Amino acid sequence: MAASAPGKLILFGEHAVVFGEPALSTAVDLRTEVYARPHTEWLADGASLEDSKYRYVKAAAARAWKGGPLWFEVRSMIPTGAGLGSSAAVTVATLAAVAGLRGAPLDPPSIARTAFDVEHDVQGRASPIDTSTAAAGGALLVRPTEGADLLWTIRRDTRQWCLHRCVLPRLTLVVGNTGISAATGPLVAGVKARVDASPEDAERVKEIGQITLDGLAALRKNDLGAAGRLMDRDHALLNALGVGHPMLERLVTAARRHSYGAKLTGAGGGGSMFALTDEPEKVAADLRAAGAKAFLLATEPEGVRRLP
Ligand code: PMV
Repeated sequence: MAASAPGKLILFGEHAVVFGEPALSTAVDLRTEVYARPHTEWLADGASLEDSKYRYVKAAAARAWKGGPLWFEVRSMIPTGAGLGSSAAVTVATLAAVAGLRGAPLDPPSIARTAFDVEHDVQGRASPIDTSTAAAGGALLVRPTEGADLLWTIRRDTRQWCLHRCVLPRLTLVVGNTGISAATGPLVAGVKARVDASPEDAERVKEIGQITLDGLAALRKNDLGAAGRLMDRDHALLNALGVGHPMLERLVTAARRHSYGAKLTGAGGGGSMFALTDEPEKVAADLRAAGAKAFLLATEPEGVRRLP
C-alpha cells in the first residue's frame, strides 16, 4: 500500500498564524511517497524505525496502526529542514498508506487532524498549516474563524484553526534554500517572547495578518506587482520580529533584481526564501550566484493520494 503527499510553501502569514492571524499556504509540486507493507519487524528503508530520520513515520504508525510490524519505504523529493513541509508530507503520506492497509477509504480531513497530532507528538507544532496543506493540496487560508469555502476545522486546547480552500492562479515560484536549518520551536518561542514584551512587535504580527488578506486578494486578481510589494513588507516585518538571517537577506536582495517581491518562507532563521517573478531562470541564476541552492516550483493542486 502506498500514498503520496505534497510539500508546501507559506506565501504569507508565518509566525503571525501562531497568534491567531490568518496565513496563506500553497502545496508545491514536490512530493513524498510512502510505501507500507506487513513484515516480520519494524523497518524503514531497511533500517531501524528508531533512527531519528524516521521519527514522523514512527509517530504516525503509533497513532494509526494497531497491527503487527510494518516495512516502510520513503521516497521524497522535498528537501528537509528547508521550510518546505517535508515532515508534514511524510506524516500525511504515512497515515494514508497505513489507513489503506486497514482497508479504510482515503479521508483527508481525518488525516489532516491526525497528522497535526503526530507533528505535535514529535515537535510540539504550533499550527496545522503544513499538515493540512499536505492533506488538501492547492492553496489554503488558515484563520481562527469560519468563512466561505471552509474545508475543515482543527481544535487543540482552547484554540482552533479553520482551513479554507483558496483558488489562486497557477504560480511559478523560485525558491532559494540557504542550506542553514534552524529548528522551528525556538524561533516560534522567540517571537512569542517579543510579542509578550513589546506592543510594537504585537502590532507587527497584526500587520502581517492584514498583509496576508491583502496578498490573497492581490494573487486572486493576478496582481503580481501588489503581491510582490506585500511580500517585501512581510519579509521586513519578519526580520523585525527576529526570524531573519544574513544569508536570507543576501538571497532576498539578489532575487529582487528580477522579481515582483521576495520573502523568507516558513520559520526563518535560515531555511528558505522564495521570489515571485516572470523571469524565474534569471532569479534562480542570481540566487545560485549568491550561494543558494535554487529551484523553480509550481503550485500543486493535488493533496494526499493513494498510489496504484
Ligand atoms: O517550520 P515551517 O517551515 O513549517 O514553518 C513554520 C511556520 C510557523 O508559522 C513559524 C509555525 C507554525 O506552526 O505555523
